[in-house]
Amino acid sequence: MKKITIAIDGHSSCGKSTMAKDLAREIGYIYIDSGAMYRAVTYYCLQHDLFTEDGVKLPELQAAMPDIRITFRLNAEGRPETYLNEECIEKEIRGMAVSSRVSLIATIGFVREAMVALQQQMGRDKGIVMDGRDIGTTVFPDAELKIFVTASAEVRAQRRYDELKAKGEDASYESILENVKERDRIDSGRAISPLRKADDAILLDNSAMTIPEQKAWLLEQYQLTLNR
Ligand code: DC
Repeated sequence: MKKITIAIDGHSSCGKSTMAKDLAREIGYIYIDSGAMYRAVTYYCLQHDLFTEDGVKLPELQAAMPDIRITFRLNAEGRPETYLNEECIEKEIRGMAVSSRVSLIATIGFVREAMVALQQQMGRDKGIVMDGRDIGTTVFPDAELKIFVTASAEVRAQRRYDELKAKGEDASYESILENVKERDRIDSGRAISPLRKADDAILLDNSAMTIPEQKAWLLEQYQLTLNR
């Protein structure tokens, strides 16, 4: 069976990961959450006191890059979890401490270079679904199927709020909405690999779609691409 590369980019908290993960499971592909990799670097910085009041200790972080080993493993339910140097950090990287600092980490050139190289290595045999911001533009510009997902900031903040609440975490809708808007601004405005739709990506605004609808839509795009 022919294997392809599927790149799913878009704004934060628009359900990309859910869609991408479901599709990968359905078609037996590897799923990689590239945002989790930037989150893992952010978590490392928090653990090693590499944040200053308004920035990051760049020389120290650059020197530490070879010590940051990020991998993914499936848990007992078959869900991928993020590991940093053999430690599962899946829960830690989803909290506000990491979420509010990760966009800053994602603007750093040497961090992006290291993450892109790792992502390209993970996808060298195809049969992969990767989601992020620059997958269709920078990581896999030759991907056979590229999707760019978006939804309104309010819808995305509500989804994120519901997700945190369901996990029993403390959250305020207003601060999440602020965080979503701030991340959009940083992700789209940064100098290196800013968030943008690849010319050949298919645009999906899922503001008014249910998860099963998105899932069916994505599977159809995959089948159309295979038959092309
Ligand atoms: O998808 P996410 O919210 O977990 O992403 C976390 C941050 O990492 C977000 O600020 C965007 C950034 N990111 C990126 O710059 N490039 C990627 N390929 C994936 C995520």
